[in-house]
Amino acid sequence: MKLIESETYHNLARAFAGECQAHIRYMFIEYGAKKAGHKSLAAIIDKISYNEFNHARMFYTFLSQASNKTIDNVDIMAGYPFREKWDVLENLKLAAEDEKEEAEVVYPAFRDKAKEEGFLEIAKLFDDIIKVEKGHKETFLELYEQMKNGTLYKKAKPVVWRCADCGYESSSPEAWDECPVCKAPKGAVVLHLKSTQQQ
Ligand SMILES: [Fe+2]
Ligand SMILES: [Fe+2]
Repeated sequence: MKLIESETYHNLARAFAGECQAHIRYMFIEYGAKKAGHKSLAAIIDKISYNEFNHARMFYTFLSQASNKTIDNVDIMAGYPFREKWDVLENLKLAAEDEKEEAEVVYPAFRDKAKEEGFLEIAKLFDDIIKVEKGHKETFLELYEQMKNGTLYKKAKPVVWRCADCGYESSSPEAWDECPVCKAPKGAVVLHLKSTQQQ
C-alpha cells in the first residue's frame, strides 16, 4: 500500500494538526503562568511546548514524503477540544487530560493502524511519542496538584530551594519571597517535581 492511499496518511495529518494545537495551547499556559509570576513553571511548559513542535515536525516530515508532487491539500475529519478559559490552574488540568487521551487512546490507534498497513517506521514514531506524552501528562498533573494544594513553593518538611536565576540554595519548608542574593521573585525557584528532569 502506498502511504498516500492509506489511513495512516490521514492520521499523520491529524496528528500534525493536534501537535500544532498542543504547541499553541501550552504557549497559552506559559503566557498565563508568566503573567502570574510563575517563572520556573512557565519554563517547564515552554519545554513541553517545544517537544510538541518537534513532534509536529516529525509527523510533517513523514507526511511530506508521501508524494514526489506538491501536496496541496489533505482533507481530514478530526475533532479538537476548545475548553481552555485562561485560568492557569484549570488549563494545567485540561492539558493533563489531553495528554492522557493522546497517549492512551488516539496515538495507540494510529500506531496500530500504521502497523496494520505496513508502515513500521511510522508505527514506531507513534509508539515513541506515546512515551513522551505520558511523561507530559505526569508533569501537568503534578503541576496542577501542587498549584491546587498550595505546595508549589511550600512543603510539609524542609527542602532545598534553588534560585533558577542565580543558583543560590537554602533549606526551609517554604521558598523565599525574594531571592536573598539576586532578588528574583518566588516564582523563579526551581520546582520540586518527580516527573521531569526538564528544569
Ligand atoms: Fe506531542
Ligand atoms: Fe505532550
